[in-house]
Amino acid sequence: MVTVRRMDPSEWPAARAACIDAFDEPGIPELLDMLHSSWGWSDDLAFVAERAGEIVGLVLFTPCFVDAPERVVQVLVLSPVGVRRDVQGQGIGDALIRGALAELASTRAEPAVFLEGIPSYYPRFGFRPGGELGFTKPSTRIPDRAFMVYPLPSYDPSLRGALVYADAFWRADAVGLRE
Ligand SMILES: CC(C)(COP(=O)(O)OP(=O)(O)OC[C@H]1O[C@@H](n2cnc3c(N)ncnc32)[C@H](O)[C@@H]1OP(=O)(O)O)[C@@H](O)C(=O)NCCC(=O)NCCS
Repeated sequence: MVTVRRMDPSEWPAARAACIDAFDEPGIPELLDMLHSSWGWSDDLAFVAERAGEIVGLVLFTPCFVDAPERVVQVLVLSPVGVRRDVQGQGIGDALIRGALAELASTRAEPAVFLEGIPSYYPRFGFRPGGELGFTKPSTRIPDRAFMVYPLPSYDPSLRGALVYADAFWRADAVGLRE
């Protein structure tokens, strides 16, 4: 039985550890710490998966911007999402992402969630290629298929423009690493 909910601030060390274990990539601790200490951090935008009293997964959302023709629009970027390695492949990531997106849909004003990620994984949640909806990638290093967007309830199809990442992603050199 998995529970998906907003992270309590006191749970950050356990959530951070679960996410680092998920990736086993040297850049992840720095990215997590940059995001956690950035201007855009909000405890409301961190979601955990809990099973048997343990934090086994974490997904973070960070306020970023679409540089639209007439104005700058705040959006969210999903990154990173990780499930502890010993419990991967059991539906926890699925529950975590679906639960977090549903919660964002009912509580946040941003029109969309963007990500760069595995093209075969995210469409099941409703993510669509960003280019098809008129958005431009924040880096040419991101393959077109990896640049995706999930419209939230306030999304208006007339929204267009370039996604601009928050500085934490650049400072952690965590942009455009996907194959
Ligand atoms: C990706 C991740 C969050 C998914 O969580 P999970 O609990 O293992 O996933 P679930 O059990 O809910 O779902 C399993 C599905 O995810 C797919 N999946 C998991 N990792 C994948 C990957 N790297 N590439 C493509 N698909 C992947 C599985 O193939 C499976 O698909 P199926 O349902 O069609 O069989 C988790 O595997 C993880 O933390 N991986 C390491 C970190 C990572 O790669 N994060 C995402 C970066 S974009």
